[in-house]
Order: sequence, then C-alpha cells, then structure tokens
Amino acid sequence: MTLKGKRILLGMTGGIAAYKAAELARLLGKAGCDVRVAMTEAATRFVTPVTMQALTGQTVWTDLWDPRVADNMSHIELSRDRELVLIAPASADFLAKVACGLADDLLSTLVLARRCGLMVAPAMNVEMWGNPATQRNLRTLRADGIAFAGPAAGDQACGETGMGRMLEPADVVAEVEAFFQPKTLAGKRVLVTAGPTEEPIDPVRMITNASSGKMGFAVARAAREAGARVTLVSGPVALATPAGVERVDVRSARQMFDAVKAAIRGQQVFVSVAAVADWSVKNPAKRKIKKVDGRAPVLEFEENPDILAWVAARKSAPFCVGFAAESEKVAAHAEQKRANKGVPLIAANLVQEALGTDDNAITLFDARGRHPLGRGPKIELARKLVAHIAGMLAKKRR
Ligand code: CTP
Repeated sequence: MTLKGKRILLGMTGGIAAYKAAELARLLGKAGCDVRVAMTEAATRFVTPVTMQALTGQTVWTDLWDPRVADNMSHIELSRDRELVLIAPASADFLAKVACGLADDLLSTLVLARRCGLMVAPAMNVEMWGNPATQRNLRTLRADGIAFAGPAAGDQACGETGMGRMLEPADVVAEVEAFFQPKTLAGKRVLVTAGPTEEPIDPVRMITNASSGKMGFAVARAAREAGARVTLVSGPVALATPAGVERVDVRSARQMFDAVKAAIRGQQVFVSVAAVADWSVKNPAKRKIKKVDGRAPVLEFEENPDILAWVAARKSAPFCVGFAAESEKVAAHAEQKRANKGVPLIAANLVQEALGTDDNAITLFDARGRHPLGRGPKIELARKLVAHIAGMLAKKRR
C-alpha cells in the first residue's frame, strides 16, 4: 500500500463537509497513515474533537495556546515530522487566509510555519466558489504550488447545486496517493486508449472484445499522478474517470481512430491499451435484422485501421507503447508485435489472468529485453509501467 507509514496532519475547518473528514481520517488510518488532527474553532462546531480522537487514536489539537505543549510551540511542533498537511474541508475563508499568509489561529499558523507539502480539499457554497475573490485566491494558491483535491459539482447542503462540494473521502485518499507519486512525467502530454470497441451489426446487436477498461484507466491515472496532462479515449466501459484526466468516449474502432487523430498533436507519449476490434461489419443494417425463415444472417467484415501502427508511423510520432493480451506464447507474440507495429515498448499479459479483475501480471518487452513487473493491482503495475516509460524517455533525451 502506497500510503503505509505516511505521516499526515489533517486540518479541519468550519463547514458541514467536516462530517466527511471523519470518514477520511478513518480511511487514511486504514491505509496505514499516521494521522494527526488539528481543527479550527469553527470545525469543532460541526464535529467534536472527541470523534476525531476516537477515529485516529491521537490527541486532537485546536488551540494555539494549548498549555499541554511545554514550549508553547505547537504551531511548529505539530507539523515538523509530517510529510503532508491536508486541509479537509477547506472553507473559502481558510483558503483566503492561506492565500494571504494570515496566521491567527493554530491551523493557519501551522500551515504558514510548515516545511512539508500542502493539499486542500475545498468545500463551500457554489456562489462562494464562483466569487471573484475566491477565484483570485485559488490562482494564488496554485501559483504557490499548493495541491488541490477537488472540489466536485453537485447537490449542496444548502439546497443549491453546483461547484464547491467536497470530494468524497475515498477520492481525497486517491489524491493523497497521487501527491506522493514521483513526478516523472511532469509537463508531458500523454494519450491513452482503453476499453473495448463495439462494431454494430444492426441498431441492437454488435461485435465487441472482452475488456473492462480497468488497465487502461489505471495507466491514465498513473500518468496523471506522475504529473502528465492526460487524455483518455475510452470505448464503452462502466468506470469512473480518474481525477484530473480528460476523457473522450467512443464506441467503434473508427470513432476511436478519429478521436486519436484529433488528439495526437503535441502528445509526447501514446499508450494503446484498448482492445480494438480487428474487424467491423461491412454495411451494418439500419433496421433490426428480423428472424426470417430460420435463416441465419451472413456477415461480411472489413478490417479496421490499426490505430497504434498509424500513430507509430507518423513523422513526429510520440513515444508509443502497445499492449499485447495473449492466450499463449506471450513472449513470442509480444516481440513480434513490437516489431510489426514499430513501437519501442510492449506490455504483455495473459488474457485469462487479467480479464475484468483488479489484478494482473505484466512483462515489458523493449530493445534491452524483457522486464517482468510481477503480479499486483492494476494501478501498481500501471505506476511501474509509467516509471519505465519515464526512464526510457530520459535515456532518449540524453
Ligand atoms: N491496436 C490498435 N488498433 C487495432 C488493433 C490493435 O491500436 N486495430 C493496438 C492495441 O491497442 C494494442 C496493440 O495494438 O496496444 C496490440 O493489439 P492486439 O489486438 O493484441 O494486436 P493485433 O495487432 O490486433 O494482433 P492479434 O489480434 O492478431 O493478436
């Protein structure tokens, strides 16, 4: 688990989303983090320090003048051994204070005096979020290198709807995980394809490949965690878009090809994880094919464009990575695909080991030979793949 042993100071400010911070503290603890909580006076109006103490098993801090701290330096001591200060929920007022460098209570003082990184999970009314003053503060905070978890859009406690909802606790944890990933692809643009494609036979029938999209989505998430700007072209899947990733939905291989063509300019890396259908039905029926006289229809196929080979053959091709899902002879097929498609790197796996599951076992094949990444959750394999890509890119530059 990537968060095991991470030392986090969870700062809570006043807002109804404070109830989500209780669950957040529990999830961080479950992930193996050492969670210390500091609350503003307003936060204690929503959730009591006793609740947070019970959830973290640690003393909760609320007062700059706490006599329990022998040298009265709680604002220094509470953050010195921390690897991240996470403010959740972060109210509009608190963000304004941080943007201005104000320090008039324990939490704002320790934020100003910290040495480690700072992440904020904003939570506020839609109008407060949209207010030019808040927007100005957000620009300042971003320019200061402060990381953001959210917010999301949706129903708000006040009955209004729009931007400003605090992210769900599990999504904040995902952003904390992202924070701790090495930024090996910082400033790079990465295009990923994922999922199956659907080739219509008639309006209600289609031919498709078995693919959940989980590996491709994990690659998009891992690339974004590594600091890249990521575009994800996805076939039909039932998956949530990873945070911070731009997603384009398509159905058929031709639509996927068009979406890739539209997005390819300026990309430094292309990772083709999609299980693209090799053939589509020639002239799919406009109306549903009826069962007449018990005669089975005969379908005629035509070959779909090979998207990866097309990208790899471009004059200014990005660094291309192919996936090979094989049912046998993985190494031989992977090597052959690397040569056929003209790509520097192929990630290969056995289909029967990966389909629909959260785990996989992947081996990479490049000009230097084979590199087994082992077995594990798809997100961890995706992070290893991203690290390998970043390593190859760095060597290429040298
Ligand atoms: N691919 C692609 N466009 C296609 C077919 C495949 O971009 N029309 C990409 C896949 O995304 C993957 C790689 O090519 O990265 C290998 O896909 P795969 O289906 O395993 O290879 P094929 O070339 O189709 O070979 P085969 O189906 O015979 O194994």
